[in-house]
Amino acid sequence: MSLLSEALSLSNCEAHREYTFVVEDVPYKKLCSSKRIMTVNGKFPGPTLRVHKGETIFVNVINRASDNVTLHWHGVGQPRNPWSDGPEYITQCPIKPGTSFTYKVIFSTEEGTVWWHAHNSWSRATVHGAIFVYPSPGKPLPFPKPHHEVPIVLGEWWKKDVREVVELFTSTGGAPNDSDALTINGHPGFLYPCSDSGISSLSLYICMYSLLRMVNAAMNIILFFAIKDHNLTVVGADGHYTKPMNASYIVISPGQTLDVLLNADQNPKRNYYMAARAYSTGVNVSFTNSTTAGILRYHHPRKPSLSNPPDLPYLPFYNDTNATFEFLGNIRSLNSDDHPSSVPQNISRKIISTISLNLFQCPANSSCEGPNGSRLAASLNNITFVTPNNIDILRAYYYHITGVFGTMFPTFPPLVFNFTAQDLPLFLETSRLATEVVPLDFAEEVEIVFQGTNLVAGIDHPMHLHGFSFYIVGYGFGNYDERTDPSNYNLIDPPYRNTVTVPKNGWLAVRFKVDNPGVWFMHCHLDRHQTWGMETVFIVANGKLPNETLLPPPPHMPTC
Ligand code: C2O
Ligand code: CU
Repeated sequence: MSLLSEALSLSNCEAHREYTFVVEDVPYKKLCSSKRIMTVNGKFPGPTLRVHKGETIFVNVINRASDNVTLHWHGVGQPRNPWSDGPEYITQCPIKPGTSFTYKVIFSTEEGTVWWHAHNSWSRATVHGAIFVYPSPGKPLPFPKPHHEVPIVLGEWWKKDVREVVELFTSTGGAPNDSDALTINGHPGFLYPCSDSGISSLSLYICMYSLLRMVNAAMNIILFFAIKDHNLTVVGADGHYTKPMNASYIVISPGQTLDVLLNADQNPKRNYYMAARAYSTGVNVSFTNSTTAGILRYHHPRKPSLSNPPDLPYLPFYNDTNATFEFLGNIRSLNSDDHPSSVPQNISRKIISTISLNLFQCPANSSCEGPNGSRLAASLNNITFVTPNNIDILRAYYYHITGVFGTMFPTFPPLVFNFTAQDLPLFLETSRLATEVVPLDFAEEVEIVFQGTNLVAGIDHPMHLHGFSFYIVGYGFGNYDERTDPSNYNLIDPPYRNTVTVPKNGWLAVRFKVDNPGVWFMHCHLDRHQTWGMETVFIVANGKLPNETLLPPPPHMPTC
């Protein structure tokens, strides 16, 4: 082989696309006040990535901001490659200001919409964006090709610097300040003061249909979304296609994505509002109780004016649990010849874990702003996870550094009580601080049952697992019953998601096949709960074959 052809063939096999993400602080004005926010390439929301199924890309992250950052590719399986997964002190040390790190993002089975976001402290409030995953070249979509596609990234905006918000609530032990606005594609909309900073609008042509690539990038709020007079058809969720499902409103939890078809079939001489607002069920739990709105207009020579007062779409009431689970519970995997479901049927490991809010006594000589002068915390199986701060768990695992984590995460609640009862004794509220992980063998079939509790305040929790998607085989209200509930599981076409909404004072069961060696974070995607310790880590051992083994670390992992 000539040198030239050798060089060519080598460059062919390295033909991966590369992107540059410059992380920088830029001034932004919203709600009549301005501040500097951390962004990627100066944008909020950040840039959209477009890839094909199975593609590998490289993203060079250059940190020119004043603070640390890491990036996570939410919903991307990253087979054998936790090195580029992102969560701070779990799989990497942060990228410090003035330094850079190149992520290798390996797409495998995902199709539809996933997203990327910062995964250190609360920087993801402004550092996030959508990822559109198209079918492999030459492969069809399982629905007619849309004429048009748009990201709908829902978010939250604080007037204050988000770092101050975190600093305040972590030092006082109280709840974080609610955000000052919800946003659609970065815009609060005209129901807030100073909407001159922009309204998000969609322009459609009559009789064409669009694919909405929806992401809930809000920090702490499950959201309802709807468009006046327009029906929505869900065709994908969390990077996997679903059976088409018609809906007049959407429910989307932080971390989740949806692919939604929108048919532009209404009177083109009118404008239509779209709106989103909170679903929040915690008693005495405050939340951002306001509405973000945008406009859908048709291309039409005569620009129609907007109705006054605004004619908003119907959205369920803020604590309408039935409306929420009516929507979530009807989502089904596509389960077609091209996109079969493979729900694990032979469970080798069953984990039952409570998910709970907790209270710690206030340390002497400090003042605490949690309920009754306590400090708020959160736990899985009564363990409030303590994240290391000078090494990451992946590094400790790979290089056999001891003393960083234990492997004794309990796979059953340490104390069984009526988890969802009304008045639970106060002694149950206190959790245990520890860094305990769940070791798993390669090729195991795992079932996890998340059991919500009514300790401190029962509320819905969007639980997210890195490195995998899981099938939601069942859910219900009250306490999980191991004798009767499994007989009602859907083992045929359950939704296959990476973030699952566990009902308030209820339970939810997921199954997944352990086919991805590495260190994988699992946590509540409400950031205040994650900050309070509602998380753990799965460490999946290598399998026997070379392609079942962790990839070697890339050069230049950031150091702590
Ligand atoms: Cu969306 Cu641990 O992340
Ligand atoms: Cu939670």
